[in-house]
Amino acid sequence: MSDKTFTSLKQYEEAAKEKLDDLTNSYFYKGPNSSAGLKRNEEALQKVFLCPNICVDVSKRSTQITLLGKELSMPVGIGPCALHSLTNKDGELATARAAEYSKVLYVVSQYSTQPLRDIRKTAPNTLIFMQINMLSEEFITRSYIEGIEREGVNGFVLTLDHNSFSPDRPTLNEEFRSTVYLPNMPEGFCDYAKAANSVNKWTNDSYTWESVKRIMTYTTLPIIVKGILSPKNAREAIKTGVAGIWVSNHGGRNSSDYPATIDAFRSIAPIVKASGILLFADGGIRTGGDILKFLALGAKMVFIAKPVISALVVNGSEGLNSVFSLLKSDLETNMAMCGYNSIDEVDQNCLWDNRSNI
Ligand SMILES: Cc1cc2nc3c(=O)[nH]c(=O)nc-3n(C[C@H](O)[C@H](O)[C@H](O)COP(=O)(O)O)c2cc1C
Repeated sequence: MSDKTFTSLKQYEEAAKEKLDDLTNSYFYKGPNSSAGLKRNEEALQKVFLCPNICVDVSKRSTQITLLGKELSMPVGIGPCALHSLTNKDGELATARAAEYSKVLYVVSQYSTQPLRDIRKTAPNTLIFMQINMLSEEFITRSYIEGIEREGVNGFVLTLDHNSFSPDRPTLNEEFRSTVYLPNMPEGFCDYAKAANSVNKWTNDSYTWESVKRIMTYTTLPIIVKGILSPKNAREAIKTGVAGIWVSNHGGRNSSDYPATIDAFRSIAPIVKASGILLFADGGIRTGGDILKFLALGAKMVFIAKPVISALVVNGSEGLNSVFSLLKSDLETNMAMCGYNSIDEVDQNCLWDNRSNI
């Protein structure tokens, strides 16, 4: 299968689904309640329109941004996603190669299948954040964070919408799990089959904002909290002193009963912007236009997860480079149509709802 002629992320998804077996397909692409939450993320984005602003000199436009002093080719990164080994033989090393080549931020999942040390070696110049979950005991989380910091990551993403699992959540069967090893989990958690069965190890439903405050003292690196969907939780997160907030409904995988990310984002963005901390988002982003909509509402960066899986399945790191190249040129096109030369210039005037402003 050649992806040379592909022009959209949808084509990657369709091609990947054809290649994968049923179980892996449902693990990567399905969600509770017939995937209603997943679909809502994409559908809600299609209901937001851009407002063109033509006859502006946009000949020098660029999608580059700077984050934590590092230049990135675009405000789109690789969101944390478990088990890249199910997509291609090199697993996360293929992902790391693409991150390095495409100059994008890579958030490595705690449930990744290649050692962080090797990922770092493969992508020596890449901005790498490690995604972590609250483990069953805080002292384990603490020594874990300290160990990860020594591996040369640039920051942490603390996923907070992970305190329990819906029975309808996509998962893998026993046989499948027994083939998976998770080298970036703390000792005793690496064996997926054993750890996934011992609920008290993989999930912790007792953590609070006080726990988040303490976690921040275990590292000198920035911590972004992921899984914020309400203005109340955004305010609470800001009070803890985190470096940033990541608005996400986990791609609709946890439940189908939450709003689409773009809808939640509208109410959260003004609060976070006023605080001056970083603002990230993900959920259903598939085009340059989708990216621009989130940026217009205040996102510093957005992330993709399922499109990364699709690209890796179709053509490994080269597939992922092509996906980033497609997103970059689609974002450039949308910037051109809306009259922007740089990402810093993007503002709410490019949203159709605000057209009376211009
Ligand atoms: C197969 C799969 C595995 C995921 N694993 C993780 C994970 O390990 N940690 C995490 O914080 N989010 C995880 N996510 C959620 C993604 O980071 C992201 O929030 C979500 O998929 C939304 O983006 P998308 O619509 O581009 O997929 C996972 C998502 C998928 C589809």
